[in-house]
Amino acid sequence: MRKILIAVVAVLASVSSWGQKSVPVYLDNTKPIEERVEDALARMTLDEKLGVIHAQSKFSSRGVPRLGMPDFWTDDGPHGVRPDVLWDEWEQAGQTNDSCVAFPALTCLAATFDPSLAMRYGISLGEEARYRGKDMILGPGVNIYRTPLNGRNFEYMGEDPFLASTMVVPYIQGLQSNGVAACVKHYALNNDEEYRNQVNVVISDRALHEIYLPAFKAAVQKGHVWGLMGAYNLYKNQHNCHNEILLNQILKRDWKFDGVVISDWGGAHDTEQSVMNGLDMEFGTWTDGLHFGASNAYQNYYLANPYKEGILNGKYTTKELDDKVRRVLRTFFRTTMNPDRKTGSMCSEEHYETARDVANSGIVLLKNDKSVLPVNVSKARRILVVGENAVKMMTVGGGSSSLKVQREVSPLDGLKAALPGVQVDYERGYVGDVTGAYNGVTTGQDLSESRNASQLIADAVAKAKNADYVIFFGGLNKSDYQDCEGHDRKNYELPYNQDAVIEALAKANKNFIYVNISGNAVAMPWINKIPAIVQGWFIGSEAGNALADVLTGKANPSGKLPFSWGRTLNDYGAHALNTYPGKWRADKKIIDEEYKEGIYVGYRWMDSKKIKPTFAFGHGLSYTTFALSNLRASTKDVTRDGKITFTVNVKNTGKRAGAEVVQLYIHDDEASVDRPYKELKGFQKVFLQPGESKDVQITIDNEAMSFYDEASNGWKSENGSFTALVGNSSDNLPLNIKFNLK
Ligand code: BGC
Repeated sequence: MRKILIAVVAVLASVSSWGQKSVPVYLDNTKPIEERVEDALARMTLDEKLGVIHAQSKFSSRGVPRLGMPDFWTDDGPHGVRPDVLWDEWEQAGQTNDSCVAFPALTCLAATFDPSLAMRYGISLGEEARYRGKDMILGPGVNIYRTPLNGRNFEYMGEDPFLASTMVVPYIQGLQSNGVAACVKHYALNNDEEYRNQVNVVISDRALHEIYLPAFKAAVQKGHVWGLMGAYNLYKNQHNCHNEILLNQILKRDWKFDGVVISDWGGAHDTEQSVMNGLDMEFGTWTDGLHFGASNAYQNYYLANPYKEGILNGKYTTKELDDKVRRVLRTFFRTTMNPDRKTGSMCSEEHYETARDVANSGIVLLKNDKSVLPVNVSKARRILVVGENAVKMMTVGGGSSSLKVQREVSPLDGLKAALPGVQVDYERGYVGDVTGAYNGVTTGQDLSESRNASQLIADAVAKAKNADYVIFFGGLNKSDYQDCEGHDRKNYELPYNQDAVIEALAKANKNFIYVNISGNAVAMPWINKIPAIVQGWFIGSEAGNALADVLTGKANPSGKLPFSWGRTLNDYGAHALNTYPGKWRADKKIIDEEYKEGIYVGYRWMDSKKIKPTFAFGHGLSYTTFALSNLRASTKDVTRDGKITFTVNVKNTGKRAGAEVVQLYIHDDEASVDRPYKELKGFQKVFLQPGESKDVQITIDNEAMSFYDEASNGWKSENGSFTALVGNSSDNLPLNIKFNLK
């Protein structure tokens, strides 16, 4: 018996030592990732290496089956997890388990000015991605809001590099905490859509570094993002998916990005450039982004057989290939090969709660004369809701960010649910886009309408006269040319005759509230005739509930505009200087768009030209009032390696609990170069009960005083006097204090 026992123990011991010895380093997650990468790389054949650097289907790339590495699945992004399409076609796969929660569009997230909400957003989205088996989410987008015509502004975080940088980092951290890679996009200078594949951006180094790159840099250096997507357009005559300066020099050499650069879908155009200029993974080639199926084209991708031929015939060594594969392997170990990653969850109540909280915090009360809002819930008997956007599902449409949702609450339904004792009527008012379909997902709504435009207005006006309130939901709608990928808006005005509807309704009822649904500013020629305006964004699943929360006062609005709202297009430098959309070259293949306004984007431009916008960057009202006072600085003199902290007291002087965003801008009193009058360098959202007050602290360092110096190709600050301007909007900065940089 004893002998048998010893024999068993010996066998077990040998098995376990055999087992231990044989665990290859790349599978041993106690080992540092770089060791695992080198070990895996050394085991891979040339074909296996080439296999992992390009797509094998519309959204996936190959793993290394022989080594037990699963395929890698990407998906859009950035507001929810896109429904599945067929392996090699854009048609819907027709799954019944891919209906997601749609979170508010990133413009709304930016408008919260609340990084903790960006963190929750990222975590929730990452959980949905995990549940759906996705390893990389194609987002967030941080292209700067340069013109309000850009069809994709709604997917981005506004005009200010500091705001976008601050908000993108926690989004990425939250998402990646699930073992799902974020893929910040579209790097870089993809600031309009219309000719996105042909636009060659001509820009000063200073504007590039000060305005258009900071959010990407923050994503890399502070968010430690694992993926980055090149943009369709060109910079210095090279497509940005294989751009020597942007990718090899700035991103990888200077910023030390260690993740993967993936092409936008169809954004790679050439093998040599793809090999040499920093692209790591190629997606979507020959499918023209969204349009054509391309059976078995994957082996013909620039980074597939053509690359292999180049290696075999000696044109390329494997140096670049190994660098690409290392990056892909690193991504695998962070995602698909990470045994500790969470399992995720889908359509949970927590996710809906996140969506609603972000929306409640990001909806912006733009105007509220005579406190028309919130709706007086105890007195209102009849409310008339008007407008197609009160009923139209907005989660379908807009391009690649289009979603298939488990549920979406329309503004009309949200209001009805929030106002049980009130008679809530509806009138159409105008007809916009009745189709409700994108890429095979249909809303199933019947929005057909037989009345003509004047009849629609007459019917709405008739009912408006007898209502306690008229709430009009209009704006844009994610249809082509109305805030949608692939095209820009054709003009600044509201589409579908809405101006006439608004004017007529405002005349019929003095308690007229306009809720603008869009990701962009629009012309408001009637602004002085209406008392209340709310910016309602594209909010996703919880749209109706969140809008009702704000309109009825259940939530006190605290969103702030992440972009300047011009009166006309000419209030924006890009248009005033006639630089948009650029000039076609003689061959009609490339359109040069010169960013002549340089660093003067958004409020920077408006300050320099003394333009008073309709609504300023950072503007947003509340149902309560706040007083800011007693601004102090921790020191009068700050050194280049030191910090300076500003403290300001914020008091809720009204009768409702609410949140205010303290904003700090820096003005350089004595610069040797042209500088914007002021630049946002700090902000903090603070929640206060009625009568409550708190000290808010904002700390800055040398970075906040610096500009990009073209002569030395680097950031530079100059000794001398600066002023910190503090308030609650870029056009309301009542407090200031001077300090010196030494
Ligand atoms: C878009 C990307 C998107 C990709 C995949 C492209 O057309 O520009 O933002 O992630 O398609 O859908």
